Amino acid sequence: MALAEFLDDLERLRGEAVQRFETAADPDALEQARIEYLGAKSGRLKTAQKGLGRVDKADKPTAGKQFNATKQAIEAAYETAVGRLERDGRDGQATAATDPTLPGIRPVLGHLHPITQTIEEMKDIMGRLGFTVAEGPEVEDPWHNFEALNIPLDHPARDPLDNFYLATAQQSFSGRACPARSSGQEAATDITADPRTMLLRSQTSTVQIRVMEQTPPPVRIISLGRVYRPDTADATHYPMFHQIEGLLVDRHVTMADLKSVLRLFASAFFEQRDVHIRFRPSFFPFTEPSVEVDMTWKDGWVEMGGAGMVDPNVLRAVGYDPDEVTGFAFGLGVERICMNRHQFDDIRALFQNDVRVLRQF
Ligand code: FA5
Repeated sequence: MALAEFLDDLERLRGEAVQRFETAADPDALEQARIEYLGAKSGRLKTAQKGLGRVDKADKPTAGKQFNATKQAIEAAYETAVGRLERDGRDGQATAATDPTLPGIRPVLGHLHPITQTIEEMKDIMGRLGFTVAEGPEVEDPWHNFEALNIPLDHPARDPLDNFYLATAQQSFSGRACPARSSGQEAATDITADPRTMLLRSQTSTVQIRVMEQTPPPVRIISLGRVYRPDTADATHYPMFHQIEGLLVDRHVTMADLKSVLRLFASAFFEQRDVHIRFRPSFFPFTEPSVEVDMTWKDGWVEMGGAGMVDPNVLRAVGYDPDEVTGFAFGLGVERICMNRHQFDDIRALFQNDVRVLRQF
């Protein structure tokens, strides 16, 4: 038998067999096709194998190789068809077993992170009190983070141990807390004294300055966002946390206005009718007088944050006239307020992203 004839027969057989397997509509049809093509005794592949014996001796290696390839292709087509019909069968059963009138299983839905929920609610409450939301950058310059807030160069709040300074490739970092070595090396520049040195903002009070620089009084804003401090993480501290800053500047603003706004805010946020606000004397370079704010909660007092009357030096730094306008400002820790409201005692739980914790809010 000529090689060409043998190869033609094989190719025709492969095409027919593959098509039959691919189009078999049910297991019976597939079984019939299997017997016809792959049957051990008189299947057509078996018959074709017998033709191999009639091919010229010299062509036998080529013919044998092609026969094996054809056999593998036909068997693979059969296995594929078996898998297809099994899958169809399972789907068919599942469809038959599904009762569309039964109540469905509610899929697990995600929701906003508790910090985001808190922020949204704070914006909503303060919006109702007439405060609009202002934004500011998280990477700040020393003017907005320090100088304009009445924090001069030699103030301890500028210490590198309390701030995340961002040294550029050109700057060698020494910082005042870790003076440059003098052993023959050129002393490194103190980058904290360089007005070009940027830092991650350590408080949202920076936004007060940015807003007042761009807006003539009156001003009534809040700003919410991330701030960064190299604090060691513990139950109440985290190196990145959120603050809500409030600023109101107008004629004749007093501490009584500050207290009223904080009381209304606390009352709405904690859904308590009878909230009392307490001021404890404190110090912030950008407010005078300055206070720590506490509110009544359950049977005692809890801390809300810092506040005070905007220092005249700050008003002057942004071009306001302290004889014309006065203002109050406050800065509260969003995480601490969120923890207080939901009664949990470790700030780290808010950042570990354990869904077993987060789904409770
Ligand atoms: C300030 O940051 C002032 N800018 C607040 C202010 C604004 C005063 C306007 C006057 C006028 P203080 O450092 O106390 O203040 O931080 C405010 C609040 O942030 C704290 O009461 C606390 O709730 C929260 N806080 C501070 N450090 C951390 C921290 N590491 N992790 C979580 N929350 C913190």
